[in-house]
Amino acid sequence: MSQVSQAPVTTPDGVADPTAPTAYSEVKGWFSTYDQVLFDWFLGRQNDDAEKPGDLLELGAFLGKSAIFLGRYLRPGEELTVCDLFDSPAVDDSNLEENRSSYPTLTRRGFEVNYMAFHAALPTVIQAPTSVVAERVRPGSCRFIHVDASHLFEHVVTDIASSRIVGAPGAVVVFDDYRSEHCPGVAAAVWSAVVTGELRPICVSASKLYATWGDPAPHQAELLAWLEGRADLWHGIDTIAGRPLVRIGNQGAVPPEPPQPLRPAPVAAPAPGPVRRPGARWRRLAKDLLPPVVTRRIVAARRRRH
Ligand SMILES: C[S@@+](CC[C@H](N)C(=O)[O-])C[C@H]1O[C@@H](n2cnc3c(N)ncnc32)[C@H](O)[C@@H]1O
Repeated sequence: MSQVSQAPVTTPDGVADPTAPTAYSEVKGWFSTYDQVLFDWFLGRQNDDAEKPGDLLELGAFLGKSAIFLGRYLRPGEELTVCDLFDSPAVDDSNLEENRSSYPTLTRRGFEVNYMAFHAALPTVIQAPTSVVAERVRPGSCRFIHVDASHLFEHVVTDIASSRIVGAPGAVVVFDDYRSEHCPGVAAAVWSAVVTGELRPICVSASKLYATWGDPAPHQAELLAWLEGRADLWHGIDTIAGRPLVRIGNQGAVPPEPPQPLRPAPVAAPAPGPVRRPGARWRRLAKDLLPPVVTRRIVAARRRRH
């Protein structure tokens, strides 16, 4: 069922796939510019700390919108792993139905072509249900984990448990769709882990909950200081189960520079103009300058020749 690969995607003669996107905006997915701002802040802050290397992990990659973004923050020696079923069937009927209705055209090839349009090498791809992640990813190795795969309660409970196993000390774990009406199972699983477990929320955006299995206080202190200078994000603080939670809202968030494609978009050829026959310019000039009687004789002589 599961396969692991790191092979680059090109056609057999080494040319990039012609269906590859030429701009990040062409990659389909669910990754708002305002969550891009927050990912950039969390990952950039981790990258400033050379003392703490760690891998990146995404559960649920779809066509690569968020994975391509994550790939930019890899430092030498670090690894990005994505786990997705892609075009493999799910193991239970509810998950099968979820994927059939939400991602009917998804293929692993589509993900790989998109990813390779922006990065020189693929991430490690685990094409399998996310339930295998705790066995496949090194325990305690990941500094940033994006959980965005199945939105069904039982699956999310497993993903939450896996994030604890593979997360490095102080890792940031992000849960997508933690409060949407189309997936109450995510809300139930995530808030249970907060209220009755040891998952500690740092902040929430409209779509994602950012948390840690460690101490959220250092993350929150730096986050609040940074938010003071961001006129494009509003924020407030709520208390949940006796702990502060930073709420962040979008007021025209200015996204970071998007990932750039490795190959620039082809420059459009100039639009074709009217076709000119050889000598046409001289003929027009002669028509303007010569007396009509001479012009008529030349035209008649040309007709006789042809
Ligand atoms: C919401 S999409 C991911 C979106 C992506 N992160 C983005 O930002 O564009 C969810 C993905 O989870 C995958 N998925 C669903 N159930 C899964 C499961 N049990 N195990 C692994 N992947 C699963 C689907 O194939 C789909 O690609």
